Amino acid sequence: MNKTFEEAMNFRHACKEFDISRKIPKDDIEFVLNAGIQSPTSYGLEFTKYLVIENNELKNRIQNASMNQEQVSQCSHLVVVLVRIDDAKIKSGTPKQRFERLNLPDETLNFFLDMYGQFSQTHLKDDKDIYHWTSKQAYISIGNMMTAAAVKGIDSCPLEGFEKDKIEEILELNNSSFQVALVLPLGYRNRDPRDSIRLDYKEVVEFIS
Ligand SMILES: Cc1cc2nc3c(=O)[nH]c(=O)nc-3n(C[C@H](O)[C@H](O)[C@H](O)COP(=O)(O)O)c2cc1C
Repeated sequence: MNKTFEEAMNFRHACKEFDISRKIPKDDIEFVLNAGIQSPTSYGLEFTKYLVIENNELKNRIQNASMNQEQVSQCSHLVVVLVRIDDAKIKSGTPKQRFERLNLPDETLNFFLDMYGQFSQTHLKDDKDIYHWTSKQAYISIGNMMTAAAVKGIDSCPLEGFEKDKIEEILELNNSSFQVALVLPLGYRNRDPRDSIRLDYKEVVEFIS
């Protein structure tokens, strides 16, 4: 049975040890990935891609490029979250194609394209800018995927401790097309986590009325 939102939030922790004998059922992994896909993106442009790795040899190689963190090979499914670089550029034609899905009148379509063009000129000056902008959005989808996983009793561990260039090489990615934002092992915990540690509500929340 699905966990409630509150139960899922309490269940989730950064899982360091997965049970290697347990595989996530197909329906559940699809549920998690769909939570990622359903997440909001700037201008609705969707520049995130999810590589789902089940192959053990590949997982082992990625673990080597991830500070040897064992979650990477022990998990059931390793999601490598990618962002699209060239596709974010106006000249690729992709932004136009994405906007066209909205079936807008020409005038409105051109308004959106102009707005995105101006945004690109000031905020997306090079591939590095695009990587950071698209990664911020990918992280929103990763948050949703982790909560969706928890709803199904699936554990996760967001992982930034990796050598980006090495993983891109292992996955034979052309980094003009795709770059790695984050690595997300998914599976089932081997043991109970320690209690969650958080700052006090009052220390991190401030209301201004
Ligand atoms: C962006 C990001 C990167 C992280 N990278 C790693 C990592 O490389 N390895 C790891 O074991 N945990 C990693 N974590 C997990 C955090 O250490 C963990 O979320 C934090 O200590 C709080 O613990 P909790 O999630 O269990 O409540 C990362 C978390 C985030 C949000």
